[in-house]
Amino acid sequence: MKNTTIHDCKLIELPRMYDRRGSLTYIYNSDHIPFDIVRTYYLYDVPGGESRGGHAHTELQQLIVAVMGAFDVILDDGTEKKTVRLERAYYGLYVPRQIWRELINFSSGANCLVLASMSYEEAEYIRNYDTFTEIKRK
Ligand code: TYD
Repeated sequence: MKNTTIHDCKLIELPRMYDRRGSLTYIYNSDHIPFDIVRTYYLYDVPGGESRGGHAHTELQQLIVAVMGAFDVILDDGTEKKTVRLERAYYGLYVPRQIWRELINFSSGANCLVLASMSYEEAEYIRNYDTFTEIKRK
């Protein structure tokens, strides 16, 4: 299977319906994102200065959306890193399998929506950075 890099992570512009009443964004499996959504979760009430993530996944793919407020996502493939700031509810950051990610610099009241390709399985998390870089070197 392909060894993923940060260049496989991409910002996806989502459909946006807007009029004087406000904006609406919708997401369909496969149509707007390259996987089928199995699970949705969201991060909120993140205290100032806190970070989330700090791990990779063996198989899981995700789309990360700042539905409210803003935060930075640091992406790392073991060789290269890049930081993507999410601050619009109509952009999603696609993160494929085996990319280390950390979410930092949450604005006050930020809400982070995550669409995931799999159920929660702790065994599928890579939480140790040295283990991650070893896997990427193989
Ligand atoms: P954790 O993976 O530490 O969150 P982060 O995205 O910041 O790395 O998850 C926090 C806790 O929530 C941990 O005990 C696992 C649990 N959890 C679930 O039970 N189901 C889920 O879908 C997720 C994402 C986490």
